[in-house]
Amino acid sequence: IQQLFNLFKELSTDKKREVGKELNVLSKYAEEVYRSTKIELEEMATSSSDLDLTLPGIQDFIGSEHSVRQTIKQMIEIFKKMGFSVAEGPEVEDEYHNFDALNFPPNHPARDMQDTFFIENKFDTVVLRTHTSPVQIRMMENVKPPIRAIMPGRVYRNETLDSTHLAEFHQIEGLYIDKNVTMAELKATMMHFARVMYGEDIEFRFRASFFPFTEPSAELDIRTKYSNKWMEIVGCGMVHPNVLKAGGIDPEEYSGYAFGFGVERITMAKTQLDDIRKLYENDVRVLSQF
Ligand code: DAH
Repeated sequence: IQQLFNLFKELSTDKKREVGKELNVLSKYAEEVYRSTKIELEEMATSSSDLDLTLPGIQDFIGSEHSVRQTIKQMIEIFKKMGFSVAEGPEVEDEYHNFDALNFPPNHPARDMQDTFFIENKFDTVVLRTHTSPVQIRMMENVKPPIRAIMPGRVYRNETLDSTHLAEFHQIEGLYIDKNVTMAELKATMMHFARVMYGEDIEFRFRASFFPFTEPSAELDIRTKYSNKWMEIVGCGMVHPNVLKAGGIDPEEYSGYAFGFGVERITMAKTQLDDIRKLYENDVRVLSQF
């Protein structure tokens, strides 16, 4: 507007009369807009508002897989790359598949009411499976060798809960059956798994052990460079001839190895959790770390 007034000075007298009127109107209007806007802004600045910039922000919580589920997926990936397929079996099992076919003698203590959840049934003895090994038998009944599969799933035991025991947990069973399968292959497979899972520079210790369904049997302990404690990660062995027979496979023609991992134990070793119960308390502050 100031610039327009400067130009105004150069106009002829006639024109000045005409343009002067318009310029005055414009200048009054501009002053009015300035004044009212200023008042408006001053009012806004002093009136109270809901907006408090000092409040903490609102965080979006995004869900994620439970760490036990993550372990199962990771283990499946490792074994898939070694040619294992994935199979599943029922959680409610008959006594035959859970015990008899796996070469447990009739009076074996693991069948005891102390360890096994029996389900009331008029016709035969039904249990909540105490391990994933019965899926081995179901595989052999249904698939001709060669068989190379892992069998993840939930298992149940009548345990007193403590920092290393749950009544409901997960295992991953493994079974490989073919001609001329050797213990050396079992060892190499277990060691390869452990190296991928825990790092190349871990130490190994195979200990002789006993399971009714394998002969010979072993347990594998590992130790990482960050720990001076040996940690048991898997039970394994060569499939017992009686078990092959129960699955309808001729032990003279075929041999095989089997193994069984406790998934929660593997998860604890991975996460450094010191109490197995923490995995299922569902405290988001614990679980969201993994
Ligand atoms: N079924 C065993 C358990 O629940 C684990 C196991 C050990 C499975 C050795 C196997 C094996 O297949 O060969 O403790």
